[in-house]
Amino acid sequence: MLTHEQIEKNVGWLIVLTILLISVGGLVEIVPLFFQKSTTTPVNELVKPYDAVRLAGRDIYIREGCYNCHSQMIRPFRAETERYGHYSVAGEFVYDHPFQWGSKRTGPDLARVGGRYSDQWHRIHLLNPRDVVPESNMPAYSWLDRPLNDPAISAKMEALRKVGVPYSDKEIAEAPKAIEGKTELEALIAYLQGLGLALKQTR
Ligand code: HEC
Repeated sequence: MLTHEQIEKNVGWLIVLTILLISVGGLVEIVPLFFQKSTTTPVNELVKPYDAVRLAGRDIYIREGCYNCHSQMIRPFRAETERYGHYSVAGEFVYDHPFQWGSKRTGPDLARVGGRYSDQWHRIHLLNPRDVVPESNMPAYSWLDRPLNDPAISAKMEALRKVGVPYSDKEIAEAPKAIEGKTELEALIAYLQGLGLALKQTR
C-alpha cells in the first residue's frame, strides 16, 4: 500500500494519481449534465426550435461576430436580473447548437432582448447604431440590408435534427421557401426578437 509520503516523493505516482483524481472529479461533475432533465429538456413549452428564418438569422449573428461583444447569459445576481430580467437557465438553450452564452460584454447581454425594441428600432440600430444611441461604439452593419442567400438551410436543419432538434420533414422541406425573399437584416432581427421570451419577466 502506498503511503501519502511515498506518493508525494515519487513524481511518477504523483502525476498518475493526480490525473486519475481530476478525471474522476471532472466526470462526476460533467457526465450527469448529459442526463439531467433540467439541462436536456426545454424549460417550458415556449422554448421551440428556431424556425428557418430565425435559424438563418442566428447564422448571420455568428458570421458577423456579434458574440465578440454580446453575451447571451444572464447571471443569477440582483444587478443582472434587475437590468435584464430572469436569469438564464440551461433549459432555454436546448436547441442552441452551438450556444451563444459567451462572457464578453462590450455591449449589453442579449439573452432577453426579444421584444424590448421594435423591429424598426433594430433596423436603424443595426444599420447605424449611432442613429438611435449617439454614444454607441457598436459597429454599423450597413451591408445587412441585402437578400438572404442561404442555400444550405435544409441541410443545416437536418444536421441539427441529428443532434436532437425535433424538426419535421415538412419544416425541413419548406425551409428554402420560408426564407425566400427575406433580407439578412430581417432574418437577424427575427432571431433577436425571439431571444429569451420563454422566461420573460413582465415588471
Ligand atoms: C464592438 C462591439 C460590438 C459588436 C461587435 C456588436 N455590438 Fe451590439 N452593442 C454594442 C454596444 C456597446 C451596445 C450598447 C450601445 C447601443 O445600444 O448601441 C450594443 C447594443 C446592442 C443592442 C441593444 C441591446 C440593448 O439591450 O439595448 C443590440 C440588439 C445589439 N447590440 C445587437 C448586435 C448584433 C446583432 C451584433 C452583430 C451584428 C452586434 N450587436 C455587434 C457593441 C457591439
